Amino acid sequence: MTEQTTFPQGFLWGAATSAYQIEGSPLADGAGPSIWHRFSHTPGRTHLGQTGDVACDHYRRWAEDVELMHGLGLGAYRLSLSWSRLLPEGRGAVNPKGLDFYSRLVDRLLERRIQPMVTLYHWDLPAALDDRGGWLNRDVVDWFADYARVAFEALGDRVTLWATINEPWVITDAGYLFGVNAPGHRNLFEAPIAFHHLLRAHAAAVRAYRANGRGKIGLVVNLEPKVPASDRPEDVAAAARDDRYNNLYHLDPVFFGRYPDGMQDVFGEGWPAFAPEDVARIREPIDFVGVNYYTQRVVRHDAKAPLGFSSQSVPGALTMETGWQVVPAGLTRALLWVGERYGKVPVYVTENGAAFADPARAPEGRLDDPLRVRYYRDHLLAVRDAIQQGVDVRGYFAWSLLDNFEWSRGYSLRFGLVHVDFDTQRRTVKASGNYYREVIATHGGVLAEPVSAAP
Ligand code: BGC
Repeated sequence: MTEQTTFPQGFLWGAATSAYQIEGSPLADGAGPSIWHRFSHTPGRTHLGQTGDVACDHYRRWAEDVELMHGLGLGAYRLSLSWSRLLPEGRGAVNPKGLDFYSRLVDRLLERRIQPMVTLYHWDLPAALDDRGGWLNRDVVDWFADYARVAFEALGDRVTLWATINEPWVITDAGYLFGVNAPGHRNLFEAPIAFHHLLRAHAAAVRAYRANGRGKIGLVVNLEPKVPASDRPEDVAAAARDDRYNNLYHLDPVFFGRYPDGMQDVFGEGWPAFAPEDVARIREPIDFVGVNYYTQRVVRHDAKAPLGFSSQSVPGALTMETGWQVVPAGLTRALLWVGERYGKVPVYVTENGAAFADPARAPEGRLDDPLRVRYYRDHLLAVRDAIQQGVDVRGYFAWSLLDNFEWSRGYSLRFGLVHVDFDTQRRTVKASGNYYREVIATHGGVLAEPVSAAP
C-alpha cells in the first residue's frame, strides 16, 4: 500500500463480463440452449431482434481476450459460467467440452496472474429447466446445488473466489415482474416466488461449497440508495418502500434469515406467506458481499406505477445512455450501508460502469470516451472514500471488459473498457481502458490527478 492511495495491499483491480453477453456460439460443442437463447430468438423481445449468437465471439477468441486483460494489467477477472454448457439439460449428464472451455480459460488467466472470480449464475438458466418451471419450481434449488457441485469439483482447485448468483432482484424484477428480460413473464404473484427460490438456491450452493471449498464464496446484489423526491410523507414512504424492495429484500434474508417487514406493502396480495423456517435457511454465512452499483434514485409516490413509486431525474445530473444518472457518492453510500445494516463484512464492487455513446467503429485504432474516464475516476474515488471510512472493500471490477450484448437492449449500449466492432470483432482499448491501466499501475495513485470530462 502506498500511503497516498489508501487502497489496501492485495486490493483486486478487475473487470467483469458474463457468459451470454460475450461468449457467442451458445450451442457449440454440445451446449444446451438457455432461456436467453430462447428469449432473444423470440421476435420482439430484444432491440432489432439481436441475439447472443455471436456476441464478442469470446468462446473462440478467449485467448486473445486474456492477452487484452493482461495488457490492461488486470489483477482479477470476473466471469460467469454458462450452466447449459456444463449441463446441457440443466441436470444429469455433464458436457466435458463445456468444462474444458472454462478450465482452459482459468488456466490461462492464472498463467497471466489474473485471479478469476467465477459467478455461477448470470441469468442464463438452461431452457430445459425453464420447461420444468425454472425458478418457480422448488426443485430448482437442488438442480442449482448439483450444478454448483459440478463447477466446484471441476474448477475449485484453481478458482478460489466464487459468487453464487448475480442480482436476484434484477432477475425477478425484469424477468418475472416486468417481462423485459428472460423468461419474459409479467406476474406479480410469480416474482416473489422466483426470488425466494433464487435465494434458497444461493444458500444451498454456499452449503455445498463449505463441504470441500478452499476459497471464498458470496452473493452479488445490485444496490441503489433511495432518496425521497420531497419531504412529503407519501414520497418519504415511497422511497422507504423502494429501498425495502431494491436493497433490504435480498440481503436481509441472507444476514437475518427473514424478509424485511412490510414486503406485503410492496407486493400487496402478491406477497406469499413463506414458511419462516424456509426463509431462515437462507441465512448461511457468506465470505463477502458483491455490490453492483450503477446509480442512485430519487423516488416519488406514484399511484399509477405498478408498485406505487417511480423515480425522477435530478436536473443537471449527467445521464447515461441507459437513462441512469451518474451519482458517484451513491456508491460510497451503498458500501457504507452494507456495514451499517449487516455488520462488518468484506465487500467487492463486482460491477460498476457506464454506457455512453461510442461509435460503432474505431477506425484510428483509438477511441476517446472522456465521459467514461471521468465516470471511473469519480467512482473509484467514491470507493476510496468508503475505504477511508472503514469499509473493508477488497476489490473493484469495472463493468465491462468488452462492449457486449446488453440483454434486451442488444448491441445498442456500450459499457466496455474495450471497444468491440461487431462487424469485424476487432477490439480497441478505449481511453477509459488506458486510464484504468494507469489506475492499476499506480495502485490508485493517478486518481489524485484531475481528468477532463470535455467530450
Ligand atoms: C448486470 C449486467 C448488465 C449491467 C448493465 C447489471 O445489472 O449484471 O449483466 O450488463 O447491469 O445493464
